[in-house]
This record gives sequence, structure tokens and C-alpha cells, in this order.
Amino acid sequence: MARKTFIAGNWKMNTTVPEAVALAEKLVALTGTTTDVDVAICPPYTNLAAVAAAIDGSAIKLGAQDVHWEEKGAYTGKISCAMLKALGVTYVIVGHSEQRTYFGETDATVNKKVAAVLAAGLLPIVCVGETLEERKADRVREVVETQTRGGLAGLSADQAAQCTIAYEPVWAIGTGETATPDQANDAHRIIRSVLAEMFGADTADQMRIQYGGSMKPGNAAELLGQSDVDGGLIGGAALKAEDFCGIIHPVGN
Ligand code: PGA
Repeated sequence: MARKTFIAGNWKMNTTVPEAVALAEKLVALTGTTTDVDVAICPPYTNLAAVAAAIDGSAIKLGAQDVHWEEKGAYTGKISCAMLKALGVTYVIVGHSEQRTYFGETDATVNKKVAAVLAAGLLPIVCVGETLEERKADRVREVVETQTRGGLAGLSADQAAQCTIAYEPVWAIGTGETATPDQANDAHRIIRSVLAEMFGADTADQMRIQYGGSMKPGNAAELLGQSDVDGGLIGGAALKAEDFCGIIHPVGN
């Protein structure tokens, strides 16, 4: 089955409102009306409204970097799915390794967030991936399987089909180290086989699995050329319009 390539930019804790608008406007100008690849950008919460206006009418979709699972109430500092939806958000990154490492995210909280995102009619990008120690200890399969099963537990096949998985080996994030195309494809195959066990082969075949971890114009084409690599979740290179477009365009050509 042909899965449409999906490139998403994770801006992390970068850009003020004016910087975000300038970057979004540049991306709109450079990407034009590209529709052969799905493209999303995920700025910080504070910039979502301004970026929504800047990309209005373009092919670029808006994403958020996290969400809280509760609908509303006394959760100081948290943002709900309804708040994101009202701003025009389509995608929500859930379970990024930085959330897991620095802010106590667990597979259980990932699972609550995924359920809330889907219930709100938004689309989750669920991040999984092993640390360097785990890779050295030959635990890649175990780690990505546990995270995938935990994060997507309880979903129906129809709900799962709306999720994107991002395989992001922690050792490759922001380090300049990239998984080799073979390492990425192997991990993606493991994840797809777990998805097939959970939701059936047809659903697993439809689901997109992005690679994330120092993807840039120079290595994107080879990574994206792998059979089970269906896109990218881009950090550092998403902050430079030319680099982000250089990842999108080899795909679209
Ligand atoms: P990177 O980040 O491209 O800067 O390695 C990817 C990510 O964390 O999503």
C-alpha cells in the first residue's frame, strides 16, 4: 500500500511570535501548494494562533508539541485538546523523548493523551525510540514494542489508523548522529509488526511511521527511500526554512 509521505517540523522551545510568523511565511512561500507530501509545523503553544494565520490557505497544517488529557479545570499550566482545536491545530505530538526524559512522561500518560487527542478529532504523532544504552544492550525491539503497545493501548483499529508513529532514537536527536537507513528501516519494521499484532495487518500497512533524529536535506532522501520510512519528524532542520524545504522537496520530486 502506498503511504503518503508526511514531514512534520517540531520547533521545540524556539521562536518568539514574530520569529515564528517570519519562519512560517517563508515556508509558505517556499513550499507553495505542495500536496504530494503532507507537511505540518509544530510551533510552541504561544505561537499557534499567529502561525495559523500565517499558513492559512497554504498546504501546511498546524501541529502542537504536547497536550493535557483532561478536558478542562484546575490544571495550572496545561493546555487541552479543545483549546488546540479552536486554534486550527490538526496534529499533536505525544510522548516526545524530551517529555519522557525531562517531564515525567510515561507510556500511561502517552496513552491518556492519545485517547484525548483522538476523541477531540485531532491526529496524534506518537513518539517512540530507544536510548544509546538500550541500543547497546540490544533492547531496541523490547523498548519500541513496549512504548508502542503502551501508548496505543485500548485503541480500535480505526483509531489507530489515524495515528502517526515517529521512531526517534534518542541518541540521534539533536546530536548530529543519524540512524543509518538500515537501522531506521529495521526499527520501523519492528514497529509495524507490533502494530499488525495489535490492530491487524491492513491497519498496520496504512499507518505512517516517521523517522526523527538529525534528519536534514543531505540524508533525507536516503532515509525516506526506505520501504517502511514514511516521513520525518524534524527538529533542528525545521527551524531553517531552506533546510526544511530541502527535506520536503526531494520527496515531492
Ligand atoms: P532533531 O530533532 O531533528 O533536531 O534531531 C528531532 C525531534 O526531536 O523531533
